[in-house]
Amino acid sequence: MSGLIPRHFIDDLLVRVDIVDLIDSHVPLKKTGSNYVARCPFHNEKSPSFSVNRKKQFFYCFGCGAGGNAITFLMDYSHLEFVEAVEELAAFVGVDVPREQSTGNRQQATKPDNLKDLHAALEEAAKFYAQQLKSSPEAQKAVDYLKSRGVSGIVARDFMIGYAPDSWDGLPQNLDRKVLIEAGLIIEKENGRSYDRFRGRLMFPIRDKRARVIGFGARVLDDSLPKYINSPETPVFSKGQEVYGLHEMIQKNAKPERILIVEGYMDVIALAQFGLHHAVATLGTATSRSHLEILFRFGSELVLCFDGDKAGRQAAWRAVEAALPSLKDGRKIKIMLLPQGEDPDSLIRKEGLENFSNRLISAQALSNYFFGHLSDGLDLAVDEDNSRFVKSASEHLKDLPEGIFRKMMLARLSELSRLPEQTLRESLEISKNAATLKLTKAKRGGKPSIARSTIALLLQNPDLAGLASKNMLDWKDLNSPGLDALRRVLETIAEQKPANMGGLLECYRGKADENMINTLAAYELEIDTASKEVMEKMFVDGVNNMLKQAKEVLLTSLLVKESRQSLTAEEKQNLIEMLKNKG
Ligand code: GTP
Ligand code: MN
Repeated sequence: MSGLIPRHFIDDLLVRVDIVDLIDSHVPLKKTGSNYVARCPFHNEKSPSFSVNRKKQFFYCFGCGAGGNAITFLMDYSHLEFVEAVEELAAFVGVDVPREQSTGNRQQATKPDNLKDLHAALEEAAKFYAQQLKSSPEAQKAVDYLKSRGVSGIVARDFMIGYAPDSWDGLPQNLDRKVLIEAGLIIEKENGRSYDRFRGRLMFPIRDKRARVIGFGARVLDDSLPKYINSPETPVFSKGQEVYGLHEMIQKNAKPERILIVEGYMDVIALAQFGLHHAVATLGTATSRSHLEILFRFGSELVLCFDGDKAGRQAAWRAVEAALPSLKDGRKIKIMLLPQGEDPDSLIRKEGLENFSNRLISAQALSNYFFGHLSDGLDLAVDEDNSRFVKSASEHLKDLPEGIFRKMMLARLSELSRLPEQTLRESLEISKNAATLKLTKAKRGGKPSIARSTIALLLQNPDLAGLASKNMLDWKDLNSPGLDALRRVLETIAEQKPANMGGLLECYRGKADENMINTLAAYELEIDTASKEVMEKMFVDGVNNMLKQAKEVLLTSLLVKESRQSLTAEEKQNLIEMLKNKG
């Protein structure tokens, strides 16, 4: 949002910083062999399975699977966004973060100064609205309304609730009109004049985790429509990325045991009033993956709460679909459907905190909800129904990250469908995009495939890349998920020239291969401490074996095709060449 941080700066930073020093300053480390270890800061454990490797500039926990480079560590450990983590890391090594000014015809990047102005204007506006609620005679009806809804003065203060006067130009005139327009607080007309967006409404400031006001929700005081108006998308506000009540939750408890996600502003407020401070609301949008990712930084269990009606059940299912890719081991999601006609606000007022909290604790596990929803209306004793069930379940389960949870879901699917797990795994495999290489977690499971260990070796020692480039030409007609992945890694190394694995991982942040790369980065290779020559030989042999395997697959498929139908001229030529080379 502010000017971009130049890529090379991030690379340099990762070279300058030593991940061992960085992590040691937060979590004291002990040296054992070539690694440094500690009890994992990301999950509870008695004996240390968290390890940090200086050469690779990488940390990994064998207990919970958390892992990554120095930036990842700060994001996870200190709940930071990417840019914040880079800033923190820069401060750690004592350098300033440069910003790129955007060039060419791309929209002018919003400058930090401007963002500060936006935050300041939004803060001023929030103060103004809160002041109006307290002291303007016109606001009496808003105060009465809050009273009629049972909102106490303390909660109104904690949430900084305000009132926007019923006027076209109520906002203080000393605020810069241009900034107010950009902040979404006033609307510009064609004739160049402007008017207040929020009029005669209760104002709910939306604050981010750093307590900055980023936008507003605004409710009418009667039954008129629209009931709510929200701030538009602005450089500091994006509905799909923010939740209401995050700041207020952190104020009470920065690490709650569980976080409740509800639909309405008034729900969050009523829950807080009754002493339940760990609830946040989406802002009238569907629950998105980024909502969940943000909230998982604050708590490992999320309870998604929906109305019990049809729309609520639909929203719950969409949220489940969005949640699947986020479900790494150690994270938990539960689904809570409310009785018909109730929302959290009405329910907690009716039955009190204790009963309501019990509902939270006994909410349905996502796995139960998932299988219940998919088998709803089907008779799994009937083959056709059963295969439909397996197909739709596989299409969703393929999105789950590798781990124990995924294994458990597969086992459960096997039990319900009475199909062997191996068959299901194959069905999942088919559902999965052939381009993504499927991998099992480091250490666990059987012997790694040649492709996996070769790519892992390369990731962990990026300077091996040069050895592969000379026979890369041989591959151009060969395709396999493993070769494709290897090719992409080689290209990335050639383009970005990372100094070590920590730097290489940075190239994949937010990219399609990120999961695969992180899994392979954590792979424990037996030759970790071998000499350079041995490592080089392993790598070259690995690449050659991959090529050999891919050639054999191609050869077989051409032979099969030839026996069934005829080959194209090009395929025929290819086959002849291959048979010649083989003999
Ligand atoms: P109350 O009716 O006061 O209890 O409000 P609520 O906060 O419980 O809201 P409700 O459950 O009706 O709606 C859930 C959320 O959807 C709200 O908090 C808003 O974010 C959003 N929403 C509801 N109505 C509107 C609307 O008319 N326009 C927009 N943009 N959003 C709305
Ligand atoms: Mn409500």
